[in-house]
Amino acid sequence: MGGIAVCPGSFDPITYGHLDIIKRAAKVFEQVYVVVLNNSSKKPLFTVEERIQLIEEVTKDLKNVKVDSFQGLLMDYAKSVNANAVIRGLRAVSDFEYEMQITSMNRVLNDEVETFFIMTNNQYSFLSSSIVKEVAKYNGDISELVPDTVEKALKNKFS
Ligand code: PNS
Repeated sequence: MGGIAVCPGSFDPITYGHLDIIKRAAKVFEQVYVVVLNNSSKKPLFTVEERIQLIEEVTKDLKNVKVDSFQGLLMDYAKSVNANAVIRGLRAVSDFEYEMQITSMNRVLNDEVETFFIMTNNQYSFLSSSIVKEVAKYNGDISELVPDTVEKALKNKFS
């Protein structure tokens, strides 16, 4: 298909669910920017630098994926890298209302950038960074949910 896509998110931290969406986006788009943005309703556990480092580590084999961060609006970031698409993962109906709200707002801000949704693989439909942090905090097994390097980083945070 070609084109430049942005995969935005908090990625606090990146999970196998995110990685699945990034890999699938990278098969379709020529260039994918995974960008760590601020979600004003969340208080992150990892710093932006830590989140970038983890994403870089787990996407290092994907040659058309670049990792970045941005303080500001997603649409301003998209413009700065000439992106024509935004990719978001959809897990369940519960995600829909929130996604519709931000997609509509983004379209008001810039209607040249189209948002595409990729349905999460069934095996990750329950997965979120928040759930992973909750389980990691109480020493539960998260090996099926996040890459090894992320598992180690979470253990360090909670040790
Ligand atoms: O992983 P998340 O927390 O669901 O990602 C949400 C995120 C970071 C993509 C969203 O909050 C965002 O785009 N933040 C940047 C500010 C912005 O552009 N908001 C969109 C208009 S409502």
